[in-house]
Amino acid sequence: MRRATPADAVPWPLLFDADGPRPEVEKYLLRGEQWLAEQAGEVVGQMVLMATRVDTWEIMNIAVAEAHKGQGIGTAMLKKAKALARQRGAHRLEVGTGNSSLRELAFYQRFGFRIVGVDVDYFVRRWGKATKQNGIPLRDLVRMEMVL
Ligand SMILES: CC(C)(COP(=O)(O)OP(=O)(O)OC[C@H]1O[C@@H](n2cnc3c(N)ncnc32)[C@H](O)[C@@H]1OP(=O)(O)O)[C@@H](O)C(=O)NCCC(=O)NCCS
Repeated sequence: MRRATPADAVPWPLLFDADGPRPEVEKYLLRGEQWLAEQAGEVVGQMVLMATRVDTWEIMNIAVAEAHKGQGIGTAMLKKAKALARQRGAHRLEVGTGNSSLRELAFYQRFGFRIVGVDVDYFVRRWGKATKQNGIPLRDLVRMEMVL
């Protein structure tokens, strides 16, 4: 895993798999740091980390390419995020996901994240409408955190 440099092509499809719309993604891409997971020279995953408060880092975006999901790459990136946040002196690592993102809710909690809040109608405000995942309207942001 390595930090992305300005010479790297931005892996937009991966970023959009996890979040959108583009102007919101561009904002944290500029302010945060992007890490790339590579296999045989190919980018198979990425995450964007950002310091959001004095002692807090947030995973703003994390995604693994479709053909490589379920192979432990996402978990390896969470481990890296935790290690980096600790190295930088943070005491808290945060991540947010959708109320209807059932596999993601499992993925984060299995790693040790706890649910600490719900931002009601966050995605309705962000997208102007509710889309569906797993037959459930995506409306609310589930805020999760891990004390380091
Ligand atoms: C969530 C994600 C980053 C996990 O990466 P990963 O490399 O597949 O994760 P791992 O292999 O370490 O762990 C697999 C677990 O992740 C979860 N998971 C979430 N979405 C998944 C998917 N589309 N395919 C496979 N596993 C997924 C499952 O809980 C799975 O466990 P299971 O096999 O018991 O169901 C990845 O699946 C992904 O890119 N999802 C789409 C983008 C996204 O929604 N990002 C998060 C926004 S909040």
